[in-house]
Parts: sequence; C-alpha cells; structure tokens
Amino acid sequence: MSLDLPDEAATLALGAALARALHPGLTIRLEGELGSGKTTLVRGVLRGLGWTGKVKSPTFTFVELYVISNLKLHHFDFYRLEQAEEYLDAGLDEYFQGDAVCLVEWPDRAGEYLAPGDLRVSLSPLGEGRRAVLAALGDKGQACLSALRHCLPRSIAAPS
Ligand SMILES: Nc1ncnc2c1ncn2[C@@H]1O[C@H](COP(=O)(O)OP(=O)(O)O)[C@@H](O)[C@H]1O
Ligand SMILES: [Mg+2]
Repeated sequence: MSLDLPDEAATLALGAALARALHPGLTIRLEGELGSGKTTLVRGVLRGLGWTGKVKSPTFTFVELYVISNLKLHHFDFYRLEQAEEYLDAGLDEYFQGDAVCLVEWPDRAGEYLAPGDLRVSLSPLGEGRRAVLAALGDKGQACLSALRHCLPRSIAAPS
C-alpha cells in the first residue's frame, strides 16, 4: 500500500489511523533516511492512542516505553548502534519478548538479531512531502494493513 503524505499533519493522521489497527505484540519496522518522518509517525500513533505527554526521540536511549490503558508501546531508534552486537549487549532484545507493540526506527542496525517483524513502513521524500509504502511481512501484518484500510482518513486514503 502506497500513500502520499503532503505534510506533517498527514504523517500524524497516518499514525493515528495505524493506532486503531494495532494489536498487542505487533512489531513495525520504520524505514527511511534521517528526517523522513519516522518519529513523527510514532508521535501520531501515540497521540491516536490518547497519549498526551511528551514524545521523545529515543536516539540516545535506544528505547522509550509507554503504557496507555492496557497497551504497552515500545519506541526504538537504533540509529546509534555501531554494531549489531550492541543490540544484544544492551539487552534490547528483551523489550521484544512481551506483548508490547514495538515501533522500530533504523531496524537494520540491529542486523539479524532483530526478528523481521510484522509490517514495514518505508518513508521517502515526495516533493515537499513524503510517500509512505506499507508492506505486510506475515499474517499479523496483513491483518493490521486490512484494518488500517478501513481507518484511513479520506485525505490520505490509498487509491484502491
Ligand atoms: N509528510 C510530511 N511532509 C513534510 N514534512 C514532514 C512530513 N512528515 C514529517 N515531516 C517533517 O520531517 C521532519 C523530520 O521528521 P522526523 O519524524 O524527526 O524524521 P525521522 O524520525 O525519520 O528522522 C520534521 O520536521 C517533520 O515535521
Ligand atoms: Mg527519528
């Protein structure tokens, strides 16, 4: 599924729609260069879930943890992992073992230690805005994408 996101509000709206399509235990890979809107998308998800507090980029901490009602959400940013082994050394794998929703920026930096996940969202520049390409990586991801189709606001709805 490919979506055009003309401005930041559209990225936030996609995040809010995604928030309605999530299931506990889902892992989403967020791909795209620096500044492509990955953290903005996570902010949209958190706002959509009703989080009103700060959303910090986990650039230096690798992970920020949120609990919203009964849902746990783990936001990762592995940009600063210099070697994939650091992922294990820091015990980051443990954050994936429960039933939290995991949103991962720069997943490739963890190499093969990180499981492939359920859904991939790739963000790239498109004019002044961004393009988002979403791909399911298995049945759970497919279910999320199907649910997402029904939650998308008309402003960013995918041509079917
Ligand atoms: N669809 C969009 N169109 C234009 N600018 C956007 C869009 N989505 C996000 N941005 C902007 O891109 C900048 C970088 O976003 P950020 O989420 O920090 O990127 P990343 O986490 O991928 O490095 C922010 O200033 C944000 O407002
Ligand atoms: Mg970021």
